Amino acid sequence: MKILVIGSGGREHALVWKLAQSRHVTQMWCTPGNAGISEERLASGEPISCVNIGAEDLPRLLAFAQEKKADLTVVGPDNPLALGIVDLFQQHGLRIWGPNRKAAQFESSKVFSQNFMEKYGIPTARAGTFSDAAKARAFAASLNGYCAVKADGLALGKGVLLSRSQSEADRAIDEILVSKAFGSAGANIVIQELLEGTEISLHALCDGKTAKLFPTAQDHKRALEGDQGLNTGGMGTYSPTPFLNESQLAAVGRAILDPWLAGCAAEGIDFHGIIYPGIMLTPAGPKVLEFNARFGDPETQVYLTRLENDLLELLDASVSGTLHKFEMKWNPMSSVCVVMASGGYPGSYAKGTAISGLEAANGLPHTKVFHAGTARSGKQIVTNGGRVLGVTAMGTDLKSAQAAAYAAVEQIHFEGAQFRRDIARKAL
Ligand code: AMP
Ligand code: GLY
Repeated sequence: MKILVIGSGGREHALVWKLAQSRHVTQMWCTPGNAGISEERLASGEPISCVNIGAEDLPRLLAFAQEKKADLTVVGPDNPLALGIVDLFQQHGLRIWGPNRKAAQFESSKVFSQNFMEKYGIPTARAGTFSDAAKARAFAASLNGYCAVKADGLALGKGVLLSRSQSEADRAIDEILVSKAFGSAGANIVIQELLEGTEISLHALCDGKTAKLFPTAQDHKRALEGDQGLNTGGMGTYSPTPFLNESQLAAVGRAILDPWLAGCAAEGIDFHGIIYPGIMLTPAGPKVLEFNARFGDPETQVYLTRLENDLLELLDASVSGTLHKFEMKWNPMSSVCVVMASGGYPGSYAKGTAISGLEAANGLPHTKVFHAGTARSGKQIVTNGGRVLGVTAMGTDLKSAQAAAYAAVEQIHFEGAQFRRDIARKAL
């Protein structure tokens, strides 16, 4: 099969790396890809071509998939899904993996998701949805200002403001609804009660009828150690987590996925792809903070290093509605991913800084360096984004996986490199 992967981050490098191991794949392209992706090879030795088409350039992506006669297109990021890339490809008779526009609303609209969770009894935070600032302030006051104020639409991961007082809540509401800090994405907001507890990521692969739950993972969203500093796309992950044992995970899965699947059926939502609920484990039980409709980044890096199945077979079954025939198999080893970012991220940062030590790091046992923001400049690999690398390593337990990941990080150097030294520490 000829496969097109859309995206350019660490998630997409992990997808390409894993798909390249499939015996079914004869050719693969990635648009636009990155320097690490362009170094991957299929099992046959065939190189993978990165083609410079942006992930949101739907007309050119369609033309490319048609020209190459791609048998399956795999979509990494959320934006093309929200723009309806799946609907577009399907209208032209192309096979594509990911939720269609209606199904992608679980991520592209927090108002939609919140209403859906309430309607179908999915455990979530107490919440209200507003377009009127005065009503929003009054609701925040009823929570004593302890709340999460969320722009409805996609806002590059920045649309959630946490508040612990009425004045903070008022400021957050004004910023989104009145000052329009996120433009039209903030025309409506969701205000949730502020939940305390341990946050974990869940992923389930869906084929429209069946949802297969992954093991747990935990992201580290803040830029600095001890969960300080600004929110980022994610500075590191590990899997599995010790916070839910297998039967608890299955119970949480049922509490969320059963009503979610029933709701999808009732609403005529045909969801093919990954549903990724962000969960808070609260003293009153697990609650969904939000849904994403794609693989997490950097969750994908730890999940796919542990996945033992042929990923192409699973994604293909997710498209065709035959997931019930598959059992996902997970390596019992732990996986830890440490993100190395450009100095200044998530604020402004330099690009084009030379990176050294990648070969030495990749040569360590059970280690894989996934590229995110990298590019090639002559013979040199240079930084080209905020999150630069996802240094990922496996170990028989979390402690040894963590030690292996940091041993690999030690090998890699670029000016201003910034990373957290406490990835997975909460679990140890
Ligand atoms: P979201 O994009 O909705 O996941 O929000 C981004 C981050 O804000 C989450 O990863 C949580 O750390 C935090 N967050 C969101 N909603 C809540 C909430 N209701 N209570 C506490 N923290 C939250
Ligand atoms: N790891 C956070 C996300 O992918 O949204």
